[in-house]
Amino acid sequence: MLEEKCDLAARALTHFQAGTSDLAEATMEVPISAYQDSDRYAKEVQAVFRQSPIVAALSVDLPEDGSYLAQEIAGTPLLLVRGTDGVVRAFLNVCRHRGARVCEPGRGQRTRFTCPYHAWTYDQEGSLTHLYGADKFGDFDRDTRGLLQLACAERSGLVFVCLDPQHTFDADVWLGGMQARLDSLGLADNWVLYEQRELPGAGWKATMDGYLEVYHHDIVHRTTVGRHTIGNLLVHDTFGPHQRLTFARRTIEDLQQPPTDEAQAESYIRLIHSVFPNLSVSGILGGHCLVSQIFPGPTPDCTITRQSILCAPGADDAAWHEAAQNFSQLALEAVRDEDYAVVATVQASLASISDGSFLFGRNEPGLQHYHRTVEQICSAGESERRAMGLTLQHGQNHAGT
Ligand code: FES
Ligand SMILES: [Fe+2]
Repeated sequence: MLEEKCDLAARALTHFQAGTSDLAEATMEVPISAYQDSDRYAKEVQAVFRQSPIVAALSVDLPEDGSYLAQEIAGTPLLLVRGTDGVVRAFLNVCRHRGARVCEPGRGQRTRFTCPYHAWTYDQEGSLTHLYGADKFGDFDRDTRGLLQLACAERSGLVFVCLDPQHTFDADVWLGGMQARLDSLGLADNWVLYEQRELPGAGWKATMDGYLEVYHHDIVHRTTVGRHTIGNLLVHDTFGPHQRLTFARRTIEDLQQPPTDEAQAESYIRLIHSVFPNLSVSGILGGHCLVSQIFPGPTPDCTITRQSILCAPGADDAAWHEAAQNFSQLALEAVRDEDYAVVATVQASLASISDGSFLFGRNEPGLQHYHRTVEQICSAGESERRAMGLTLQHGQNHAGT
């Protein structure tokens, strides 16, 4: 366990007492084309969401051996399956006979996946195990016709996948120092999934920006979640492409000296863990946690956000359900009715200012880091990508070999 919360609370207290915040070195100008140019969007989605690992699922989405989750992300039909060995594997949800979708989108428990077109059947490890009408089909090597497997790794209660079959990654290098911070959240085993929903939203960057700064909290969330935090005060740390944003809670007003007890320190701060490029873990508060996965849409102007409400396992009584429901409702309203409502107006403005730019303040270092990381990944050569844990693999991986 990292002994960090006292340090973070101390940094937040210093800023609160001095009226300061962690700042970037300078303001940063970003052209509007970075938000809406279709060619740029296609290239960035390819490099960032398909050739680099994204958080495709939470471990709690695949709770048992045989659990599966079929979904489409960035135009890729994805099938995640937890095998009898407990390992989560990722496959293209595409039949190796003639391309039908093997499993309908959704989730559940299954030991085998039978294609709805000609009934080719695959097991949990993606191997082709049964061929309908095999006596008339002709000979071929079944081992080369398993489902195409994608690079996949489970870390810290999160399932990382590279959607492009030609690309793979080293999860430990990719996460670097972020992994220990994520581990400290206990997402793998300290929480139960209470509720999950999908919210349509504005474009990828306009949506993501809202998760990476506290500048808007006193204004947009003035009467809701913003009441509990100090607006425009940020303690900012980066771990490679990933970031941790620490806000000060209003309770810090009562503090004269930095806390020395880790558990107590937590009551003065709020932590947001942002895993590049599509995950934000926030609002761990009184046994509740909001996890947001942002998935890019087919065009630059839309996204889908999957909100997962996690709760510490409790008595499972009326009080537990009421507290969970209240948190879930708060998370929904703050994001859908406050953040996404204002971000929709950003999206609607883009076309009218397409030659212009946005300006990120020194007090918005999270935005600056995210947008620089997108540029860095898109322009990186093979050796730079390797240093980040990203590698190109030659030839395709199919289950059964
Ligand atoms: S396309 Fe799947 S069995 Fe023919
Ligand atoms: Fe917000």
